[in-house]
Amino acid sequence: MSVSRVYANVNLNKPKEYYDYENFTLEWGVKDKYQITKKIGRGKYSEVFQGVQVLNNEPCVVKVLKPVRKGKIKREIKILLNLRGGPNILQLIDLVKDENSIYPALISEFVNNTDFKILYPTLTDFDCRYYTYELLKALEYSHSCGIMHRDIKPHNVMIDHEKRVLRLIDWGLAEFYHPGENYNVRVATRYFKGPELLVDFQQYDYSLDIWSLGCQFAGMIFGKDIFFRGKDNYDQLVKIAKILGTDGLYDYLHTYKIELSRNFLNMIGRHSKKQWNRFVNSSNEHWAVPDALDLLDHLLVYDHKQRYTAQEAMAHPYFDVIRKEEAKKQAREYIKQKKEKVMDLDDEDIDEIVKQQEERKQK
Ligand SMILES: Nc1ncnc2c1ncn2[C@@H]1O[C@H](COP(=O)(O)OP(=O)(O)O)[C@@H](O)[C@H]1O
Ligand SMILES: [Mg+2]
Repeated sequence: MSVSRVYANVNLNKPKEYYDYENFTLEWGVKDKYQITKKIGRGKYSEVFQGVQVLNNEPCVVKVLKPVRKGKIKREIKILLNLRGGPNILQLIDLVKDENSIYPALISEFVNNTDFKILYPTLTDFDCRYYTYELLKALEYSHSCGIMHRDIKPHNVMIDHEKRVLRLIDWGLAEFYHPGENYNVRVATRYFKGPELLVDFQQYDYSLDIWSLGCQFAGMIFGKDIFFRGKDNYDQLVKIAKILGTDGLYDYLHTYKIELSRNFLNMIGRHSKKQWNRFVNSSNEHWAVPDALDLLDHLLVYDHKQRYTAQEAMAHPYFDVIRKEEAKKQAREYIKQKKEKVMDLDDEDIDEIVKQQEERKQK
């Protein structure tokens, strides 16, 4: 049995309504409040449109869900509601039913995203740190709320680079974490699937998201769209083993008593662990700095329990500059508020301050 190192009992300590999404009643808003303007995406489970909110002319996104299990729809909505207001979590605005009033649609905030294949190559080293930190904030929050995302990949991370805003979207595969529960390993997208999924280990946890984030991060800092590009789910593990080495993989299988078929073992073979330095070249050396490689080393770890948690990752020296920048921003904000308060003082307030000072002196 495997239990998450962090936030294992979050859901146990919440009322049943929080995680019992099957018994949750959906409430539908007024569909005419939103107008669709154009199609912006389609996934396996949805068609996504840009739209406007008629009341205030603000943009929004309309995600029309394709017919799937009712429970899956409820799960996505319940999770979005539970996480609403959290840092960098896509903000749900409303729930409505589509034209023919059969397909449910999620109305949410619009993010003016640039495709990652275009955006990532233009980012600076600071930007890579900044957006990875912003994504970690969303993960840390969702994990602290007892929820694993299970489909972290650049296509589900919207970035408005002009506003420097990041939102984690697509909670369609997200699930509540209950220690000891056996989860379906058919989650996440192949290139981002953790070893636990590829070896059919069902007692995984939040740390799955950290692996996927590691794959995304590796792509970003090494300047590759996809870092581990497997041809199928078996080959995906082979691609991983060729870089992380097979010793670590066999240790992992041993630790959790996982058995693989002879055929699969033959496909994997034996490989040494490669140093991250091997992937650094003149076109990515400005991103793939030593601190970035050290962080990566703690994200892409076979053993899900040995991986950094979101919180541990955020404390890594790679993010020192980001944390410093945030502290400065907060200090500036604080000073600005203080200044505004001082500017608002009238003669009576100043008399009062002088009086208080006099009294303090006498004490
Ligand atoms: N809030 C949003 N702002 C901008 N684009 C979005 C937004 N939500 C979804 N999209 C676009 O639609 C695509 C599919 O949406 P997603 O929620 O991931 O659906 P699916 O579950 O079908 O993958 C995304 O990859 C993205 O390109
Ligand atoms: Mg998606």
